[in-house]
Formats: sequence, structure tokens, C-alpha cells
Amino acid sequence: MEILLAGGAGYIGSHTAVELVEQGHDVIIVDNYSNSSKEVINRIEKITGKQVQAFEADIKDKTEIMSIMKETKPDCVIHFAGMKAVGESVAKPIDYYRNNIDTTLTLLECMKECNVNQIVFSSSATVYGEENDIPYVETMKRGNCSNPYGWTKYMMEQIFEDAANADENLSVVILRYFNPIGAHQSGEIGEDPQGIPNNLMPYIAQVAVGRRDHLTIFGNDYPTKDGTCRRDYIHVMDLANGHLKAVEFARDHKGYHIFNLGTGEPYSVLEIVEAFEKANGIKIKYEFGDRRLGDLTEYWADAQKAQEVLGWKTERDIEDMCRDTWNWQKNNPHGYA
Ligand code: NAD
Ligand code: UD1
Repeated sequence: MEILLAGGAGYIGSHTAVELVEQGHDVIIVDNYSNSSKEVINRIEKITGKQVQAFEADIKDKTEIMSIMKETKPDCVIHFAGMKAVGESVAKPIDYYRNNIDTTLTLLECMKECNVNQIVFSSSATVYGEENDIPYVETMKRGNCSNPYGWTKYMMEQIFEDAANADENLSVVILRYFNPIGAHQSGEIGEDPQGIPNNLMPYIAQVAVGRRDHLTIFGNDYPTKDGTCRRDYIHVMDLANGHLKAVEFARDHKGYHIFNLGTGEPYSVLEIVEAFEKANGIKIKYEFGDRRLGDLTEYWADAQKAQEVLGWKTERDIEDMCRDTWNWQKNNPHGYA
């Protein structure tokens, strides 16, 4: 299949591109590089040994996207293009609503006009909000989101559902990611956050490589075994494989479908630090700090549906996640720079 990856040069898009190409699909990457580097394209080509079509364009630019879709005639779109920093979304809500919602509407309009009928969307466990019981199941109601980033995901899911209800030709697959970490085993591509990392694993990796002095663990008084929050961390290559299954599913199924992509097994912040130390033989200096506003104590996925319907399950464990993260970071101490 020909698959257009909107935001395909980013962390999850680049790993998905490798997985799709290695499984015989052709990818078309469209990215404005607002949170990624053109070097990513070279790395994808190096890993796969294949040339990849890449266009520099803003997904909000309908004229550009129409022309790319007409030229490349994709069978399916995967929509990764979004802004994703929770704290920044509180400070710049308009930017988040504009970029995340507008990219979605533009893609849907262009798809309709170009007769492209399949789309897979990067959603997040954040849409379950605070009220649901754990583990999270796809049939649960979406909850209240605690920040504009979360609300954009909530609203985009609604837009996709309404679009699928109105158009019997459309296939929409919503993937709710839990906490993606790790990197491709080659160490050629990985997560390269700009500025101070917001998320746990990139922060640990930057402490390990000497770019940060120590990790601050946000709270050790939560009602968990060791007092730190628990999350469902998933290897980015397992997540990439989930997109492969989703694309194949969308080809054969019309309508609106939601899948959790997680392992179903939570780890605490301290367990992640210990796993990283053990996998890589490196000490991670840390201190306990205050709780971070908006953090939930613990949540993880019920991953049954993806296993039963998509035939997908995770194959990599926490040791693989920690080892591959470090392999990427130590080979690229300053990311793609
Ligand atoms: P990322 O920032 O690495 O990748 C997003 C890519 O989209 C970047 O390359 C960026 O340059 C591009 N982009 C953004 N706006 C664009 C626009 N208007 N036009 C063209 N390109 C644009 O992020 P990621 O971690 O790869 O996440 C991909 C998607 O998955 C995002 O929608 C994110 O919200 C979602 N998600 C990520 C996580 C996570 O932990 N990484 C968790 C849940 C959901
Ligand atoms: C965060 C977002 C979530 C988003 C997801 C993927 C928040 C509140 N949630 O999830 O909406 O979908 O990223 O982008 O931002 N931690 C530390 N020290 C650090 C960093 C993190 O102790 O320096 C802890 C956090 O308190 C949390 C755990 O590590 O308990 C994981 O944090 P993080 O990687 O930021 O992911 P989430 O908060 O789960």
C-alpha cells in the first residue's frame, strides 16, 4: 500500500515509517519539521536501504496537501502531525487548537476530494480523563481532560467519529497510545525532544549522557507500592507494528474503530529508573520533588481488543525499552543536531 504519514518525521512517525517500509509498503512523509529534523529521512533510508518520498509542507495548507495527495495517490493516511507538550498547551491553547484541529480537518477535506478513504489517527490515553476505573477499556466514556492538549485529542476523536458516521466509505482507526518509549534497535532513530524534556524516559537518557545533572521524580507520596506514579510504557517499535496492523485493518473495515496500544502492565517511576540502571549499567542520579500538577496516580491499558481484533501484541519488555533508549542516546548525545 501507499501510505501518507502526516508528521512522519517525528518520533513515532519515523519508527512507523521503518516498520511499514520493511513490511513492503511505500511511505510518503509530509512534515513541516516544526518538531523534527530532515536528517530523520536519511536515517530511515539508511535503516531500510530504500528511498523514501518526503515533502516539506504544513498539513494545514490545503493547497499544498491537495497537490501532494493528487501526485502521490495514497491508499491510506496516518495522522501523527500534532503539537504534544501538555505544559505548553496550557500556555498556548490557541496554537494547540489551531494546529491539531486544523491539520485534522484539512486532511479529511483533502481525503474526500481525492477519494482517499482510510485514516489512522494518533490519539492518547489522556482522553480517558480522571474518572474512569483502571485498566482503561475502549468502551469507556471519554473523560474530562485536564489540559488543552488532551481536549484537542478528545475533539479530534469526535470529528473523526462524526465524519465516519456521515460517510459510509470512510475507515477511521483511532489508536490510543499509552507511554511510548525506546528507539529503533539500530540506534539511528529515536526520541529527540527540543529543550528540556517533559517526559520521563528522555529525561533519564539525558541524565545518563551527562546533559542533565539529575532527574527530579515528581512525588513519592502517591498511594502505590513505592509512592511513585505508575504508567503503561510501550516500546515504540511495538507501537509502530500496531500501526501496520491498523493500516491493514482499515483497508478491510469501514467505519470508526478505537484501539488501545499499551502492554497492560504498569511500572512505577522508580522501577523505570532501576530498569534503566540495570539494563545499561549506569547510575541515574535522582531527587524526589513535588507532585506535578495534573498527574494521575496510575493507569494502564486493557490491551485485549487490539490483540483479538488486530492480532497485535507487544513483543519487547522493559529491558529492551531501556537498552534501546540508551543505544540511541549514547550514539546521538545531541539527538539529530
Ligand atoms: P513528534 O512531535 O515527534 O512528531 C510530530 C510531527 O508532526 C513532527 O515531526 C512535527 O514536525 C510534525 N508536525 C506538527 N505539526 C505539523 C503541521 N502542521 N504540519 C506538518 N507537520 C507537523 O511527536 P510524536 O511523539 O511522534 O507524536 C506523534 C503523535 O502521537 C502526536 O499527535 C502526539 O500527540 C501523539 N501521541 C504521542 C505520544 C507520545 O508520548 N509521544 C503519546 C500519545 C499520543
Ligand atoms: C504525558 C502527558 C500525557 C501525554 C503523554 C505522552 C502529562 C500530565 N501527561 O504522560 O497527556 O499523552 O505524556 O506525551 O503531562 N516524571 C518524573 N520526572 C520527570 C518526568 C516525568 O517523575 O522529569 C514522572 C511523571 O510524574 C509520571 C511519569 O514520570 O508519573 C511519566 O511521565 P511522562 O513521561 O511525562 O508521561 P505521562 O505524564 O504519563
